[in-house]
Amino acid sequence: MTYNKKNIEDINVSGKKVLVRCDFNVPLKDGVITSDKRIVEAIPTIKYLLDQGAAVILCSHMGKPKGEVNPKYTLAPVAARLTEILGQEVKLAPDTIGPETKAMAAALECGQALLLENTRFDKREEKNDPEFAKELASMAEIFVNDAFGAAHRAHASTAGAADYLPAVCGYLIQKEIGVMGKALSDPARPFVSILGGAKVSDKIGVINNLIEKVDTLIIGGGMAYTFFAAQGYSVGTSLCEHDKIDLAKEMMAKAEAKGVKFLLPIDNRVGKAYDENTEYMDVDSDNIPDGWMGLDIGANTQKLFAEAIKGAGTVVWNGPMGVSEWTNFAAGTNAVANAVAESGAISIIGGGDSAAAVEKLGYADKMTHISTGGGASLEFLEGLELPGIACLMDKE
Ligand code: 3PG
Repeated sequence: MTYNKKNIEDINVSGKKVLVRCDFNVPLKDGVITSDKRIVEAIPTIKYLLDQGAAVILCSHMGKPKGEVNPKYTLAPVAARLTEILGQEVKLAPDTIGPETKAMAAALECGQALLLENTRFDKREEKNDPEFAKELASMAEIFVNDAFGAAHRAHASTAGAADYLPAVCGYLIQKEIGVMGKALSDPARPFVSILGGAKVSDKIGVINNLIEKVDTLIIGGGMAYTFFAAQGYSVGTSLCEHDKIDLAKEMMAKAEAKGVKFLLPIDNRVGKAYDENTEYMDVDSDNIPDGWMGLDIGANTQKLFAEAIKGAGTVVWNGPMGVSEWTNFAAGTNAVANAVAESGAISIIGGGDSAAAVEKLGYADKMTHISTGGGASLEFLEGLELPGIACLMDKE
């Protein structure tokens, strides 16, 4: 999907009230933000608007409160972090569209920012209710969507508001679709994609779309075992989607027909149980014993994958190679992170566990782009239309 959308520089924002949808759905532990990446990535857009003399009304969801007000999902920690980063107070409104909130928005002056409370505290948000979207839009004169992480959701604050206001994208959405769009439409070659994670069923669309574009497709993680089963190997107690075996065969045949190199693990670290401290050993892929489950790629596979990544012009990586949060089963994911960091390729990391691994290992600076979207980046790589972007004005 290629987009050519207007951005915040294509519209006069000075002296205007601007509603900005961000993805402030940040990880929290005991009410404390554990990664502020999504907030930091939203700052260039917010700063630009404030510098231009706009009055900025920020909004976002947090977690899945299912349409109920739940203090566990308040955006209060985000308002505090924004205040720190921007060096000016960002007040939190009591709700999204109530009378007090509307009065706060109306009183907001140019150069000031206000954060609305969690949009998902109202069940009309996820239903993309037109009345709710209209009320939200009524507080502003321009709508800016910069919530890449939520752009795959057709909700009132991500898409619906665009029906009532001139709507453009912010710098983050522009960056995300620019980098990933270029990789898909005009990649520096060889183009290598690494896909991991637990289930083939989650990645079918991505595999299908990427087979059309890449030179090499590397498969690791839990979903590799369904491909092993497709080759007739026994997989012990490894995760295996038996109803997806035919599909796995089809995908391997498609890769062969297209001349795409399709790399699967040649060895694996298997464990006795799905447990962090379980007994483990390394075995070849055609030799997984009964009663053992694959929990990471093996050392020979790490070398094989690293070799394929080494000469790449573009690398797109989504999904871990094993249970990367457990020390004994993290080596595969770490080795891939290392190979991507060393490759010198244009490197794009999908959100989620692969992004977390890259950040934990201190490789973030070595990557071209770490997406702020998990589900959104997957849907983008699948070639699906993202409603939060499709709704914005096209450039003439
Ligand atoms: C995410 O964390 O991927 C985005 O914020 C979207 O959240 P959601 O999956 O709850 O819609």
